[in-house]
Amino acid sequence: MAIVYSAEHRVFKLDTASTSYLLQVGPENYLLHLYYGAKVSDADLGYLSYTVYHSSHYPRVRMETPPEPFFSKGVHRMEYSCNGCGDFRGSALSILRSTGTADTDIQYVSHKIYAGKPEIEGQPATYAGETEATTLEILCRDSVSGAEVTLFYTVFENYGAMTRHVVVRNASAEPMDIQRVMSACVDFHDANDMDFIHLYGNWGRERAFERTPLIHGIQGAVSKRGCSSHMQNPFIALCSRNATEETGDVYGFNFVYTGNFSATAEMDSDGGARVLVGINPEGFLWHLDPGERFVAPEVVMVYSGEGLGGMSRTFHRLYRNNLCRGPWKNRKRPILINNWEATYFKFDEEKLYDIAKTASELGIEMLVMDDGWFGSRDTARSGLGDWFVNENKLKGGLGKLVERVNALGMKFGIWFEPEMVSEDSDLFRAHPDWALQTPNRRMSIARYQYVLDMSRADVRDYLFDCIKKVMDNANIAYIKWDFNRSLSEVGSALLAPNRQQEVFHRYVLGLYELLERILTAYPDLLLEGCASGGGRFDPAWLYYAPQFWTSDDTDAIERLDIQYGTSLCYPASAMGAHVSACPNHQVKRTTPLQTRGAVAMAGTFGYELDLTKLTDAEKDVVRQQCADYHQYYDVIHNGDLYRLISPWKDRTRCAWMFVSADKSEALVTYAVMRSEVYQRYYVRLAGLDPNRRYRNEQTGQILSGDTLMNAGICIPEVLRDFDSRVFHLTAID
Ligand code: DGJ
Repeated sequence: MAIVYSAEHRVFKLDTASTSYLLQVGPENYLLHLYYGAKVSDADLGYLSYTVYHSSHYPRVRMETPPEPFFSKGVHRMEYSCNGCGDFRGSALSILRSTGTADTDIQYVSHKIYAGKPEIEGQPATYAGETEATTLEILCRDSVSGAEVTLFYTVFENYGAMTRHVVVRNASAEPMDIQRVMSACVDFHDANDMDFIHLYGNWGRERAFERTPLIHGIQGAVSKRGCSSHMQNPFIALCSRNATEETGDVYGFNFVYTGNFSATAEMDSDGGARVLVGINPEGFLWHLDPGERFVAPEVVMVYSGEGLGGMSRTFHRLYRNNLCRGPWKNRKRPILINNWEATYFKFDEEKLYDIAKTASELGIEMLVMDDGWFGSRDTARSGLGDWFVNENKLKGGLGKLVERVNALGMKFGIWFEPEMVSEDSDLFRAHPDWALQTPNRRMSIARYQYVLDMSRADVRDYLFDCIKKVMDNANIAYIKWDFNRSLSEVGSALLAPNRQQEVFHRYVLGLYELLERILTAYPDLLLEGCASGGGRFDPAWLYYAPQFWTSDDTDAIERLDIQYGTSLCYPASAMGAHVSACPNHQVKRTTPLQTRGAVAMAGTFGYELDLTKLTDAEKDVVRQQCADYHQYYDVIHNGDLYRLISPWKDRTRCAWMFVSADKSEALVTYAVMRSEVYQRYYVRLAGLDPNRRYRNEQTGQILSGDTLMNAGICIPEVLRDFDSRVFHLTAID
């Protein structure tokens, strides 16, 4: 059994093939955290709660029954920390009771252990069959406020991964308000030699990799934008100072939520560290009447003893197999051509058809019609919300265009930005109250648009009906679901004042409901998430959309940084990556078409340029890239990623490889960011079978896996700026 309870030691031991997590029912039934890390054999780890010294600045718990061993919530490692009762580190839980005080204190009541994993109703989460995972539920109670708190833990035995979430129920006769409810709290014993990793960024440069020493005090990643954001991803990791790509301890935390979040690590003065991950308490207050429940979203936790690469591969496998759903989870994704960078808003049905026709001749499989096909949408200034085909642009209507594209043997996809409304739109004129707003306050505007109140059922019904009309009138295989601004003046016209602080979260729940409804109505639909590029690239989205547009920056060299950072927790099969025109529209750089293809190939592959303007020679390159995509699809989408050279390291080059699960095949990509003089250059490979020999299909050289991984392959020439090489290795024995 992956989870056992030792009644003798009052310890829960949660094991995967490679990890252990232990907690204990301690003095007075307080839950203590004991251990998280590489797998250990013993359950009796209570000694890890021993403390040598304490000062009066750490109040002790007055025991109801003497003798009174020293027990302080401020010193001991707490499994789920509470506010205001002697633990001065960050709290996982704080409940404002009807007395006006926010003192919160929970103790163990009972538990259950069972095979499988329960769904989190109405929210995205990883899923598992009965043989894949085991779940522990621990019921705790605050005997004073009457709050009941259930802590959920699921271990994925084959992945080195576990998930957590929390349910709070008001079991009292009085109303209460949740001020903060984190989904995971982990107290580390000794964090003196640990580093902190997070993925920060902005529009066009999402998920920049940053690693700094863990310092005393609080470090973290947060969003209060109403979305997970470009600026911080809902991911943090702690790792040992000496951890590398393939060695050392790494603890990764990824929040399955697309709204405001907080993921922090707090190192205390004694060198312990507390990680807290959950909904950002700022802008959050959830009212619970007697009997009501609140369900906090899921956190995925991965421990790897094999460095950052080991952590990433665990996230990738788990997300590919136990988070992504539906037919597109395993179905080959079509190579797409998106018209955005080719035309922006200036297109008509003939232009789109011409692009599609050229695309079909080159091996591209789907045309995606981006922004501008509806309402009065000729610029970004108007039209959002009016989801009716603009027949001035698409003469003959959408159905006719789709039929013509289908007749070329291509699928058809379409862009929506459902959650938004332009100030200049019929929808806003008819329903100004449908936009998020607060009483008497001027609304902030961004990209000439406001945000619809997704907490309202009537708004969601309108959007569902609009999307349904489009879907039912043409053969649409794919939707790109965009989201181009953050939330401000967040209030809902329909909610009472004491519920207004719930709007951020209710918005997210409303979004989930609409996505689920659309996927239920159109189960074959391929959804791609997008948020001004990758502003909502998070695990919650992968539950609905198996791919997400990684960034609006399509420059191949910028993409090395962006895709490297994104790959920390998200698989290549989820990363939208397109070949675009040069000079690149975002950074004006000119890179070889071959490099643009090699970089985009490490994601869900497509094009985003006017194919009709390519030369014959360029068309031949595209044809070859499409053929390569099919040849390498399996190793890229289902294989294991090994990052070989970080673009963040010396900013001159970058390399990575994918290795098939059976290690019979690998694809190595090497790209130059800035050429420099060097005498020789070797790249040591990883992840191969040391005992097999591999033929390099490009050079013909045959070497064993151990040679390739220890001595490396040689890059024999000085490559120019932005040049790249791709090597396909196949095992010959
Ligand atoms: C932002 C997206 O990231 C782009 O790809 C494009 O769809 C535009 N929005 C359209 O407005």
